[in-house]
Amino acid sequence: MTKSDNIDQIIDRVLYSQDDIQKMCQKLGQQLTQDYAGKDPIVVGVLKGAVFFLTDLVRQMDVKMQNDFMDVSSYGDGFESSGKVRLDIDVEADVKGRDVLLVEDIVDTGHTLKFMKEHLLKRGAKSVKCCALLNKTERREEDVVVDYYGADVENEFVVGYGLDYLNEYRNLPYIGVLKPEVIQANLNR
Ligand code: XMP
Ligand code: MG
Repeated sequence: MTKSDNIDQIIDRVLYSQDDIQKMCQKLGQQLTQDYAGKDPIVVGVLKGAVFFLTDLVRQMDVKMQNDFMDVSSYGDGFESSGKVRLDIDVEADVKGRDVLLVEDIVDTGHTLKFMKEHLLKRGAKSVKCCALLNKTERREEDVVVDYYGADVENEFVVGYGLDYLNEYRNLPYIGVLKPEVIQANLNR
């Protein structure tokens, strides 16, 4: 991100600052440290958005763990859920009999989380829980439990700190609301 990208034309307002995000990570990290003590979990980040959150979160967890990643896609056109989830990259680790903690950037309709939970349980995981940075409950279509999350968000499209619009803006250090005009302009193209 450079100054020439003129971020003010893209971002409506900052929703969570760098400081807010670090506080969320600390709080979640403390809770997860308690809940996963002695469990030796596999902490799985969902590519690509959750990578930014995962690296901050696990450094706040004083727990023996392994880290892995998986990649799924559901968003065909950049912002609207298609409802269909495809597994692009599976976890490398053998999850059989293991406690798995999925780390997500945001849970929206819940299709992605439902798919991943079912997939990991089918592969024999002992437990599968989810820690998401953000929880957008208003658009939920699946009855999924987000076991841990940093903050609620309204039905607005957010970018930054891993969250993207058309694979851009992930590197913003804060979470901001994308101007609806930006989405509209792309739809009209
Ligand atoms: P579902 O709808 O399956 O989707 O819960 C979860 C995935 O959708 C993406 N998503 C967003 N990405 N800003 C983003 O940058 C948003 O406001 C947003 N809402 C949903 C995200 O990739 C998440 O993993
Ligand atoms: Mg995602």
